[in-house]
Order: sequence, then C-alpha cells, then structure tokens
Amino acid sequence: MIVFATSDKGGTGRSVTSCNLGYRLSSRGKRVAYLDFDFGSPTAGALFELGGYERGIAPDVDRDGVGQGVGLHAYLLGTGGAPARINVRDRTDREDVRRRRGRGGQLVLFPGDQGGGEFDRRWDPEVVERCVRLLHTADKEFDLTIVDLSAGRSIALDIVVHATAQGVLAARTVRWLVFHRWTRQHIYAASGLVYGPHGILECGERAGHDRDELLSNIRFVRTAVPQVDRIRGGAAPQAAWLHRQDRILNELAGELQIGASSLLGTIPVEPMLQWREQLILDVDVQKQIANRSTVEAFDHLGDRLLDPRTWVPLN
Ligand SMILES: Nc1ncnc2c1ncn2[C@@H]1O[C@H](COP(=O)(O)OP(=O)(O)OP(=O)(O)O)[C@@H](O)[C@H]1O
Ligand SMILES: [Mg+2]
Repeated sequence: MIVFATSDKGGTGRSVTSCNLGYRLSSRGKRVAYLDFDFGSPTAGALFELGGYERGIAPDVDRDGVGQGVGLHAYLLGTGGAPARINVRDRTDREDVRRRRGRGGQLVLFPGDQGGGEFDRRWDPEVVERCVRLLHTADKEFDLTIVDLSAGRSIALDIVVHATAQGVLAARTVRWLVFHRWTRQHIYAASGLVYGPHGILECGERAGHDRDELLSNIRFVRTAVPQVDRIRGGAAPQAAWLHRQDRILNELAGELQIGASSLLGTIPVEPMLQWREQLILDVDVQKQIANRSTVEAFDHLGDRLLDPRTWVPLN
C-alpha cells in the first residue's frame, strides 16, 4: 500500500504523525518505507534522530552505512544514482529503538537532499517516470510506503498525482491522508486542498484519475486536537466556550465534507510533541512522560488505515 501524507498548511503534524505511524506499524512487524518528498524541507531524519541526516543528505555526506544512493530530489531529477536508504532501527541515535531492532519489522527512510529546494520548474515526464519506478519498487518491497509530501498544492503533489493516474501504479492500492489541525482556518484549508480549485480532485481528474475512485481513497486526520471532555479546572465559562467551539468546528467540518464519515483518525494534543518532534516509544508511556492516549491514537490510525472496510466510497 502507498500512502500519501499531505496537508494544505505547513506545521499540521503531518510528518510527526506519519513518522510515528510508520514506527508503530514497523514495531508490529510491518515492513515500512518512509519517503521524504518534502523537497523544500526534508527533515524526517531529525524526527527519526538519524545523526547527520537531520536535513536530508548533505552533498558531502559521509555515506557510511547508507551506501552510494542519492537523495530523492536528486533521484527524481535524474542526476544519477539510486535513492539512498537508511535503516532507521539500526542507525537511529535513540538507543531504545536500536535495542529493539531485532524484534520488529523494517523501517527504512529514503531521505531527501539537504538544500534541494522545491522543484523550481515544471517537471517533465521523465520525473514522473522515475517517480513511478520508485513508488512501484517500494510498494512491491514494503508492506507500507508512506510518502510525506510538501504542504499545499506543491510540485511534489502534482508529480505523484500524475504518477498514480495511469500505468502500473493505477493498479496498486493508493491512499491519501490529509492532515489538519482542529481550527477553523485549517478546516477550510484542508477541505480546499481536496475539493477546491486546483485541489487533489480537480488535478487528479485532469491527470486521468476517476474522481469518485480518487475520493474514496482520501481520508482526513485531525492532529493536536484538544480533548474537551478532559478539561478539568479552569473557569466554567471557559469550559462551556471550548465545548461550544468544538461543536462549531464539527459542524463546519461536516459542511465542508471533511466530517466524521471521511475521518481516518484524531490525534490528541501531546505535550511531548509540543516540545520536541520525535517518535513516542512505549517506554515513554511507561515512564509517564508521554500520554497513553497518544500512542493509542497512532495505533488506531494504523488499524483504520490497514482495514479495507475503512475505504468504502464516500457520498
Ligand atoms: N499531536 C500533537 N500534539 C502536539 N504537538 C504536535 C502534535 N503533532 C505534531 N505536533 C507538533 O506540531 C509541530 C508541526 O508538526 P510537523 O512538523 O509534523 O508538521 P508538518 O505538517 O509536517 O509541518 P511542515 O509543513 O513544516 O513539514 C511540531 O512541532 C510537532 O511536534
Ligand atoms: Mg513535515
């Protein structure tokens, strides 16, 4: 299965949630590839705590353990070389992950290029061809290929919309996750990215996708959502106001077609992630420095993602 992680706005929690999702599924025995398609800012290496790869592959990087591969930006531009792969469980600086590396499945990062920049020109068909080859190879080799796209109507989005429209990838299982925060602005933005002008559906149709089929493979993920039912203390008027806002947001999401029926999951506000972008491990929950509800939300997201019953057509 190929999963595109996208969002209209930046800073939605797309990468942190996707990395944790990938990590947890790999801990449950899945083979997971994580492709950093955030070409302007490929920082998945920082999230996985891969020393030396925090901003992608540097031009002069010491490639010890990574082989001769290149970053994804360079690969797609055809500047030579196969994409680099970094085995996260072997190479992360987080000892607790390395210690358990024999017990899970696989988690492999395909990093971007440091300073690669967004594609600054319209891509040509060869870029799409290389993208198709990359995604097809990964999809055959891994149970799950997570592709973290640049925010908004980016070139990265345009390339993968075209890559999946026809040919070998049209026959594979492809899902789209649209991440957004639980605020008015983010709800409008996320809805616009899918249904609006130059959105995923419009661009998808133009590229050759069947609109209804594409829509049936899109779901939304709400991130850093305050848990209103858990509000303790504080003034009663404040609690009442927060509950009312939550209701208003739910109504707005429903009107804009990103309500409950198109929701894949909700990740609660997690103090650990507010302070530090990282993987949350079971040991963090055991030490009571991360909330159990957060890892449960990641697991629930994974279950829903892998369950074919989730992916019924939307009206
Ligand atoms: N559930 C959460 N609770 C609290 N903070 C969160 C949560 N999820 C993500 N964050 C924090 O929000 C910030 C943005 O998250 P992240 O970098 O994953 O977003 P993004 O959509 O990938 O952003 P970008 O567009 O810059 O790539 C980070 O500091 C992250 O740790
Ligand atoms: Mg990101």
